[in-house]
Amino acid sequence: MSSQANYRCPLCQQTLTLNDKTYRCDNNHSFDQAKQGYVNLLPVQFKHSKAPGDNKEMVLARRSFLDKGFYQPLVDKMLELYQEYAEQSTPLLDAGCGEGFYTHQHKTEFNEVYGVDIAKETIKIAAKRYQDCHFSVGTLSKLSFNDDYFSWLVSVYAPILETEFTRILKVNGYLLTVTPAEQHLFELKQLIYRQANEHDVSKSPIKNLTLIEEHKLTYPMHFNNSDDVLNLLAMTPFAFKASKELIEEIKVMTEFTCQADFILRLYKKQKNNQ
Ligand SMILES: C[S@@+](CC[C@H](N)C(=O)[O-])C[C@H]1O[C@@H](n2cnc3c(N)ncnc32)[C@H](O)[C@@H]1O
Ligand SMILES: [Zn+2]
Repeated sequence: MSSQANYRCPLCQQTLTLNDKTYRCDNNHSFDQAKQGYVNLLPVQFKHSKAPGDNKEMVLARRSFLDKGFYQPLVDKMLELYQEYAEQSTPLLDAGCGEGFYTHQHKTEFNEVYGVDIAKETIKIAAKRYQDCHFSVGTLSKLSFNDDYFSWLVSVYAPILETEFTRILKVNGYLLTVTPAEQHLFELKQLIYRQANEHDVSKSPIKNLTLIEEHKLTYPMHFNNSDDVLNLLAMTPFAFKASKELIEEIKVMTEFTCQADFILRLYKKQKNNQ
């Protein structure tokens, strides 16, 4: 997207202005817009590793899996909450957006939609496909947005940085989080660990905001194609634990059923939330 987005400088917090494909602040710090339209606002000194975030194979596996619609019931529930609570022309941020699958589904004719992720290769993939959203490379622990800017934040399976999220959210703005519930991908885990543990969902991590709705969404996903199961495995943290024998076993599977089990929590920033 070539139009101006509202960012602040990650180095001095002044507003950035886009001119001739470069974002620049009054202190002359500059950040070039890439040809895919995103901007890298992650200065090297903020990086803790050379290529932070998920690797490209994980991202492409996730995109193939999501494109098949296995998580469509989750998207539908997220959009239902968005439509119920959000005002029409509200800026929205997908924090830890990955390849933009959830980000772009919130884009309507009127609103400004942003996606931020620490993984540059992932943002490149997102910006290339979803040109009507503003994508940037950045860290959730130091976001390049002004205080009280967003009316809606989305966090799907990504780290939740409470202080920063509260800072950039307007009073009466909402944060929607999606996290795994106890039975999420339990059957897949059972293939890997002889005794699979359920997800620990005991803690609700956010104290600064007020929880106003909580939903559990559970449904079975039926696979009749081993590629889908391999993609699902590749997008999970337990992919690293899968043995070569297990991968061979999955390759010849003709059928597999696995639970999707999500918790959606909707929080609101109220006047007394800091
Ligand atoms: C499990 S993925 C979820 C991606 C996307 N929300 C989805 O559900 O398809 C978690 C994402 O968080 C990003 N991430 C992790 N730590 C981050 C940080 N400190 N700042 C920004 N992004 C981060 C990763 O690069 C990755 O894309
Ligand atoms: Zn600056």
